[in-house]
Amino acid sequence: MKIGKQHIYDLPINDITTLGALAQLLEQEAKARGEVLPPAVRLQIGEPSFRTPEHIRMAACQSIEREPLTYGPAAGWSWLRELLAAKIERVNGYVVEPEQTAIAMGGTGAILAALTATVGPGDEVLISDPHWPQYLMQLACCGATPVHYPLDPRNEWLPDVAKMERLVTPRTRLLIINSPGNPTGAVFPTHLVAELLDFARRHDLYLLSDECYDELVFEGEHVSPAAMLGRDEFNAGRVICIYTFSKTYAMTGWRIGYVVTARQLMKTIVDVLNASYTNVSTLVQRAAAEALTGPQACVAEMRQTYQRRRDLAVKLLKESGRYVYTPHGAFYVLVDVTSPKGTQRRGRQFALDLLRERNVAIAPGSGFGSVSEEFVRISLAASDEEIERGVKEICAFADR
Ligand SMILES: Cc1ncc(COP(=O)(O)O)c(C=O)c1O
Repeated sequence: MKIGKQHIYDLPINDITTLGALAQLLEQEAKARGEVLPPAVRLQIGEPSFRTPEHIRMAACQSIEREPLTYGPAAGWSWLRELLAAKIERVNGYVVEPEQTAIAMGGTGAILAALTATVGPGDEVLISDPHWPQYLMQLACCGATPVHYPLDPRNEWLPDVAKMERLVTPRTRLLIINSPGNPTGAVFPTHLVAELLDFARRHDLYLLSDECYDELVFEGEHVSPAAMLGRDEFNAGRVICIYTFSKTYAMTGWRIGYVVTARQLMKTIVDVLNASYTNVSTLVQRAAAEALTGPQACVAEMRQTYQRRRDLAVKLLKESGRYVYTPHGAFYVLVDVTSPKGTQRRGRQFALDLLRERNVAIAPGSGFGSVSEEFVRISLAASDEEIERGVKEICAFADR
C-alpha cells in the first residue's frame, strides 16, 4: 500500500479531533437509544468565542463588490504591508520597512514558510515541551528533527536556559519560542527573552519567535526579541517573528497572519509563499487592513472577557486545591489532574473518560508534549457557566 512519506504518516493523531468525533458518536448513540444528551461542555477548542467584528466583515463584502479579485503579490499588497509595519512599531515596539513584512495563510502558513526557508533534513530545531502541536507536523514536512526543551510548571512554565545549553549539537539550526504561549498561557519576562536571544547568538541559530498571542496579555508585557536588536543585527536575519489576525481580531477562519524578518531572508520566505499558494485573497487582505485601521475597542473587550474567565478558572482551581500558576496571556489554562490516590488515568484516556462519564470535552496535555502529560488544557473561549461546570467536573474526576 502506498502511504506517502512514512515520517509524516507516523505523526501522532490529533487528540482534539478524536474528542470531537467521540462527542458526536456519543450523541448518535444516545439518539439511537431514544435519549437526548445535554450538549457537552466544550473546553477543548483553541479559538476565540467571538464573531469577527462587523466593520471587518463589511470591508470584505465591499471588496467583493468593488474590486477585481485578481492574483496578487505573494507577500501581500503594499497598502497592507505598510499597515503591518505601522502595527509592528505601535504594538511590538520595533521599526521595520513594509518590505520586511509578508502576509501568509494564518500564523500557521507564516511559520511553515519560515521553517521551509530555513531548515531541512539533518537539521535540529529546539522546540518547547509542551508546545503547539503543529510545530511537530511542520518540522516533519521540512524533514527537520525536533529537540525538546522543557518548560517548568513549577516556575510559571518558563524554560531554563542553562538546561537548553545541553541540547545544542553541531546540527542545531533554529530555536522556536512562543510567548504568550499555547498551551501554557505563560508570558516570558524581558530578561528571559534577552537570555534566549543571547543563546541564539551564542550558537548562531535562527530565532523563530511565535507571537501569535501578542495582543492577548493580561498582565506584564509582551516583549519581542526583535525589539532588542540593533538595525544591523535585525538586517542580518537572526530573528523571524510571526503574528496573526486570528486571535487578536477573532479571524481564525479568514486565514491571514504575517511574518517579519530581514529583507534577504524574506526573499527566500516569499519564494516559499509564492510556491505554496501564490497569494492570500484580496478580500481577506482588505478585511485585515480594516482590522488594523478601524476601531480597536473590540480587541480590549475580547481581552477583558478572557481575563475575567481566566480569573474565574484560577479561583475555582484554588478552591479545589489544584492551583499551579496563573496564565498571564493567550486563552488557555493547563490544569494539573494528578490523582492523590495514584489511580491516575493519563492524558488521552482521562479526556476520553471525562467526556464519556461527565460530558466535558478538554484537550489532554499529552497532545502538547510529555511534560504536560498530567495536565489537561481548558480553553477560555467557553462561557463562564461552561468554565465553572467544566473546572468543577475536571477536579472532581481527578480527585477520585
Ligand atoms: C502558538 C500558536 N501559533 C500559531 C498559531 C496559528 O494560528 P493561525 O494559523 O490561526 O493564525 C496558533 C493557533 O492556534 C497557535 O496557538
